[in-house]
Amino acid sequence: MTDVYKVPKGAKKRAHIDNDTYEKWYQESIRNPDKFWKKHGKRIDWFKPYSKVRNASFDGKVSIKWFEDGQTNVAYNCIDRHLKKRGDQVAIIWEGDNPYDDRKITYNELYEHVCRLSNVMKKNGVKKGDRVTIYMPMIPEAAYAMLACARIGAIHSIVFGGFSPDALAGRIVDCESTFVITADEGLRGGRKIPLKDNTDKAVDIAKRDGVIVSNVLVVRRTAGKVAWYDERDIWYHEAMAEAKPDCPPAKMKAEDPLFLLYTSGSTGKPKGVLHTTGGYLVYASMTHEYVFDYHEGDIYWCTADVGWVTGHSYIVYGPLANGATTLMFEGVPNYPTPGRFWEVVDKHQVNIFYTAPTAIRALMGAGNDHVTKSSRKSLRTLGSVGEPINPEAWEWYYKVVGDKRCPIVDTWWQTETGGIMITPLPGATDLKPGSATRPFFGIEPQLVDAEGAVLEGATEGNLCISQSWPGQMRTVYGDHERFVQTYFSAYKGKYFTGDGCRRDKDGYYWITGRVDDVINVSGHRMGTAEVESALVSHDAVSEAAVVGYPHDVKGQGIYCYVTLMEGVEGSEELKKELVKHVRGEIGPIASPDKIQFSPGLPKTRSGKIMRRILRKIAEDDFGSLGDTSTLADPAVVDDLIENRQNRK
Ligand code: WT7
Repeated sequence: MTDVYKVPKGAKKRAHIDNDTYEKWYQESIRNPDKFWKKHGKRIDWFKPYSKVRNASFDGKVSIKWFEDGQTNVAYNCIDRHLKKRGDQVAIIWEGDNPYDDRKITYNELYEHVCRLSNVMKKNGVKKGDRVTIYMPMIPEAAYAMLACARIGAIHSIVFGGFSPDALAGRIVDCESTFVITADEGLRGGRKIPLKDNTDKAVDIAKRDGVIVSNVLVVRRTAGKVAWYDERDIWYHEAMAEAKPDCPPAKMKAEDPLFLLYTSGSTGKPKGVLHTTGGYLVYASMTHEYVFDYHEGDIYWCTADVGWVTGHSYIVYGPLANGATTLMFEGVPNYPTPGRFWEVVDKHQVNIFYTAPTAIRALMGAGNDHVTKSSRKSLRTLGSVGEPINPEAWEWYYKVVGDKRCPIVDTWWQTETGGIMITPLPGATDLKPGSATRPFFGIEPQLVDAEGAVLEGATEGNLCISQSWPGQMRTVYGDHERFVQTYFSAYKGKYFTGDGCRRDKDGYYWITGRVDDVINVSGHRMGTAEVESALVSHDAVSEAAVVGYPHDVKGQGIYCYVTLMEGVEGSEELKKELVKHVRGEIGPIASPDKIQFSPGLPKTRSGKIMRRILRKIAEDDFGSLGDTSTLADPAVVDDLIENRQNRK
């Protein structure tokens, strides 16, 4: 295996940023962030220009503001400002689950859809600052919904279509959202997902918890049969036909909220990560342009779902702010065949392709023929996101998919960061498989030890960011104290990412994975505490401890140690029932991969479960359990190992 892949000549020649420019801009961005961002903030249009650039403190109460006296509108920047020059250019290419299903939407058409939808929402009482929940399949209407919220100043909260009615209800209740946009059914890999039915259930649960959803706007996707409540439900196509095709964009302050997105942490319920208007858009659009080396006319495809932050920043907001053609894909990588991605690449002549390691590994397993029978000549930049990419998968992506022609940008970032933070730039950065390489402009990573001492040079530690950047989350919705506690209390004056990281002698960063109780399943973040509380809500379960373990395709799998109630017998049947129960509580993405019935769990004398030991046992690594002498009952460990070996 080669250690370093040099920037291909073609990539260097074409790129916006070569290595000298990277070095120069990076230094400027760190030495004088105000000057740097004053200039780059102008990449978006402002109704009222900003005079203040950065006003952020990571100490005490923590307050983060960018471009605070400026006024703008995100939908205006993603649509209106392009109309003169590229009204007839395609804004969104939609590729359906079924390969014969596709649509193209120009910027002019996008304008009309978004304006009509804005008027539909206004007519039904949605106002600036209201929270609108979006629970949608990957269809253009999901993007219209996001942009219509942005246009009128409503705050959207997208809930991934794979979440259960319970999970949806929890998110509706947390932000007191009274307007929901959904579809009759979703369609993925030929299977239907009962979105409207789930929404009906969620609305009932939310009502019990005191939040009354007044309207559900329903897009007809499959025309499947759904229950209908006249006083509450509205058909999208009927309301849109009646709505006016123009709607002025609301004047938004730079720090007005744009969206909420719930994400899992190490404790408690998912947090509503809040992103605001000006800084977020500047950062999303700038990273989209430079990280993917986007040029005018490029066809750009990010395979994420809009239910995750990747879909927000790199399907909708970043690309559209740059006037790009963005491809939105409803389906899955292996339907109808594992060649689907590459067929779509050829069909739409995709130039930039951005996906997740879990998809790459799954397709790698399906064999090279599915790839090599396609041309892929249009491809120029390949991207990866969501979890560390193992060097084998990287090499395969580089050689088999990209024919050694296309730089791979392994982009490290988080829901909280709003945009890409550590990444190669295609024309600037020599690549090392498995490394996210170097920080983007304005990003100052620091590695710290457990005591918070900053480590220099080639080293390994906990990854912090020492200065604010425009795309950063501003607070946890409704709970600023939790924001401060979660991100700024471990290491004073720094943003702590929750990731471990190594820096090599060339200053390249290698993310080693989460150091908290968050696991990463197929690039989706899961709090082990959430799965545990789902398990103990089952009548048969008295206690549960959940850890991640290495999984060939998913990156990490979900391993559950379950202690049953007195008198309940463990069985294969019960395991199946518990899996079903967790899917019902959270959603299919939280399906336990392994369940081990465990009469006892390893606890300290103060009652704290020692997960370190459970992780080792789940990994079949019995030799290095470390110090077990502080356990209340060390014999528990022997039982666990024995059960593990017997695969009970
Ligand atoms: C966590 C954030 C932001 C995009 C999707 C995930 C892990 C993300 C990488 C990468 C290694 C990565 C980290 C991070 N992660 N990208 N390129 N290399 N790890 O967003 O759900 O907020 O999860 O995903 O552990 O903390 P998210």
